Amino acid sequence: GPVLKAQNEPVLGYAPGSPERAALQRELESQSQSAASIPLVIGGDHIDTRARVDLAAPHDHGHKLATVSQAEGKDIELAIEAAMKARQEWSRWSLQDRSAVFLKAADLLADKYRQRLNAATMLGQSKTAQQAEIDSACELIDFLRFNVQFAQEIAAQQPNSSRGMRNLTDYRPLEGFVYAVTPFNFTAIGGNLATAPALMGNTVIWKPAATAALSNYLFLRLLEEAGLPQGVINFVPGNSSEISARVFGHPDFAGLHFTGSTTVFDELWLKAAQNLKSYKSYPRLVGETGGKDFVLAHASADVEALAVALLRGAFEYQGQKCSAASRAYIPASLWPALRQRLLEDVAGIKMGNVLDLSNFMGAVIDDKAFRRIARYIDLARQGAGARILAGGQADASAGYFVPPTVVQVEDPGHALMQEEIFGPVLSVYVYEDARWADVLRLVDTTSPYALTGAVFARDRQAVQEANGALRHAAGNFYINDKPTGAVVGQQPFGGARRSGTNDKAGSALNLLRWVSPRTVKEAF
Ligand code: ALA
Repeated sequence: GPVLKAQNEPVLGYAPGSPERAALQRELESQSQSAASIPLVIGGDHIDTRARVDLAAPHDHGHKLATVSQAEGKDIELAIEAAMKARQEWSRWSLQDRSAVFLKAADLLADKYRQRLNAATMLGQSKTAQQAEIDSACELIDFLRFNVQFAQEIAAQQPNSSRGMRNLTDYRPLEGFVYAVTPFNFTAIGGNLATAPALMGNTVIWKPAATAALSNYLFLRLLEEAGLPQGVINFVPGNSSEISARVFGHPDFAGLHFTGSTTVFDELWLKAAQNLKSYKSYPRLVGETGGKDFVLAHASADVEALAVALLRGAFEYQGQKCSAASRAYIPASLWPALRQRLLEDVAGIKMGNVLDLSNFMGAVIDDKAFRRIARYIDLARQGAGARILAGGQADASAGYFVPPTVVQVEDPGHALMQEEIFGPVLSVYVYEDARWADVLRLVDTTSPYALTGAVFARDRQAVQEANGALRHAAGNFYINDKPTGAVVGQQPFGGARRSGTNDKAGSALNLLRWVSPRTVKEAF
């Protein structure tokens, strides 16, 4: 049949007095009234375990949000059994029937549960209303709808046939289960990592980040309401090394769909390698990992646009995006004007409890993140060759608050220019205008990552030079725009080098990793 053409979900504005703002306020209040209890979901059973952890709002230590059940080894065995059992039916559903479940889920999210998921994302992950809206509403809805379009496009890709024969490609699911390991920073990413393999006919073990369990569990319940059969996606928050040991030790392990740190992805890749000969097939290992994303300005850049891009790219959602602008290369001729504008803008940023909708920043996710970011700020404070121009006073007394921090470094090879911080810290290196060609080399070679990056220039030749020299330095390259905020269906997202396998979230390329095509020739 005709391929459905997806449209991006419009972003709501949450202006004072708007209906969406009132609905969001109601949800925030109701979810704040009592702590939720988050179970495991295995084969459709919601199971409260004895082992639990408490979840508090990152921006308010006194606000307990939930207790989260923790899966142990035996639970993982049960979850894998449930996935393999559900697979028998689910893998035979037509693509059209599977698509209907996820399209229904998208509609439920858009029309019925939008503010419930946004409120959970705000409370649990300390996002502002606007950051929640573009994540747990729009991006998640877009993933669901666009993936259906991409899956239909894949199914329509068929080989030629000629006289006396017919050829076809049967896009089989993988022969086993898929393990989805998902991060705290985007509710949409958790949803996509679990649902994309399922759309292609696989069944899934989903280990969410503990800190995103609230929004992720609400999404799983929404999938159930949309008609997802029991056992297709099994939800198992818990200790990652214990869960991973069971998963990678299982002969039916067929694929990993991962977003998180480079270190953890390396560990999981090695675990798969250790167990390789016990698997039926070579597993699919798909990962989106770290970034050290650059903003490179040419002397012809528009300073206003650059300042906005740095501010939004580095500090929206506290810099906790793998795509966040974290190293900037600024020509000396632009620096005085940019510096003044940037520091003024940073001084105007409001940070605090996300329940106050006028705040632009909330808290970083947890104690571990807070301490890591504070260590980098100390490095800037104490080390030679770095100077803090703004921010720097992290304070975890009420919540995990790290102010927007701007550091100028003398040495372009400084750790602050190389290593992923995953927090609101922007490092700036000021270069002599005449050294443009050297700077292109520096941008390309300083960090091991290659996720996103941006060049700002009005001079077309400079744009072309950056585009060529930085061809492998970023999987998502932006010209005169911030390096964050990729939109599903518009900028397929992912990077290479140490940033991941670059299987582009929200694309046909990604969905193809979850099938194992069979070619069938029939002779007449
Ligand atoms: N896809 C997210 C972005 O582009 C991480 O910012």
